[in-house]
Amino acid sequence: MDGPGPAKKLRIQKPAHFVEVDATHSSYLKNNSFNVADDDITSILFSMKEECGALAHALKIFKRHKVNLQHIESRPAKNSKQHFDFFVVCDKNSNGLQEAIKELQGVSSFLQVMARHTSSDAGSNEVPWFPRKIAELDRFANQILSYGSELECDHPGFKDQVYRARRKEFADIAFHYKHGQVIPRVEYTEDEIKTWGTIFKELTKLYPTHACREFNHVFPLLMENCGYREDSIPQLQNVSEFLKDCTGFRLRPVAGLLSSRDFLAGLAFRVFHSTQYIRHSSKPMYTPEPDVCHELLGHVPLFADPVFARFSQEIGLASLGAPDEYIEKLATCYWFTVEFGMCRQNGELKAYGAGLLSSFGELQYCLSDKPEIRAFEPSETAVQKYPITEFQPVYYVAESFEHAKEKLRTYANSIPKPFALRYSPYTESVEMLDCKQRVADLVTCIKGEMGILENALEKLE
Ligand SMILES: [Fe+2]
Repeated sequence: MDGPGPAKKLRIQKPAHFVEVDATHSSYLKNNSFNVADDDITSILFSMKEECGALAHALKIFKRHKVNLQHIESRPAKNSKQHFDFFVVCDKNSNGLQEAIKELQGVSSFLQVMARHTSSDAGSNEVPWFPRKIAELDRFANQILSYGSELECDHPGFKDQVYRARRKEFADIAFHYKHGQVIPRVEYTEDEIKTWGTIFKELTKLYPTHACREFNHVFPLLMENCGYREDSIPQLQNVSEFLKDCTGFRLRPVAGLLSSRDFLAGLAFRVFHSTQYIRHSSKPMYTPEPDVCHELLGHVPLFADPVFARFSQEIGLASLGAPDEYIEKLATCYWFTVEFGMCRQNGELKAYGAGLLSSFGELQYCLSDKPEIRAFEPSETAVQKYPITEFQPVYYVAESFEHAKEKLRTYANSIPKPFALRYSPYTESVEMLDCKQRVADLVTCIKGEMGILENALEKLE
């Protein structure tokens, strides 16, 4: 029986997160010894309109609430000539700190608390750290939860020293990988290719009848361009280049399981963390973890579809800076869509989730009359419990990827965040739309795009 390969990828980890200063504000910390992650201090960044007495007014708020200040800096705001940024470091144990922050919010155009974030801080303004630039994915790429080159005792390859040594080779590639580098090519062994071939042969029999239209459109292109064949395991670098040409998605090697927060953050930048190793040859139709078969056969084809790529990125963007409880909900939405999603096409149910498309057994089971089928509704789907070691009892059906994306965006708007985010493909970074000027700049940019569309329509007419 097939196992739900990607299961453990979505194990929820709730680490203590640290809010870090973004690039715009990093100069505040460059030349002093304060550490925003220090247990005893809280750092606050806020902007106020430049006018006589503005700082004095803010300082009075701290004084009134008996907050002990240790350090203060100021400078003209980068985004507005009419505003000043203030950076203060204060004693976290001051009793009136929360009240002071609340009052300060009322007189500031922007305020961000930069301190240790814990579950008990829910409701505060602290925002978990998230990458702003694509290269910042390097920071957590090796923070894997389990496996890597180590295997658990129930893993099919646990007692196979040759397999374990091989896994270490793959883990080393991922550990040393940095954004922008070419993914090292791997010479797969005969044994590994045989395992791939067994899976490839069985699954490709089912795809025409069981997979969604978009998947079946892309799959022949992968055979043509990336060496998808029964006797060859495609190279991640070739596949990544193909995806980049199609939708801007790219692959990045990973040694094991990332936390949900880190994994979803990659999607915000159209980066998919992909394993490169293959499951143990003793059980070709079972894997307790994601492997290269799951990634290349299950995930890759749909990342080449523009609408699905937008949907995937939407989940990633929603996760950036979201509180832990929402990361869990978004990870559950991811589970029931990208991993185990189904859709209805021409009145028939089809699979589009990677966990289905890489599992010979579950791909047949999901289209049988055994599981329960429900409509994808993020607010309900996000709280649905699911098993990770057996076939899913419930699947969620999307009317279309576009429809699912819109629903997810609406849901994402309900996530408490003090700012909106937008991805810029030009700079491969996430922009925080946290002041009017940035929003106005974006409006100007969109107006320009609209002009191009109008011109195109006129020419077509
Ligand atoms: Fe997966």
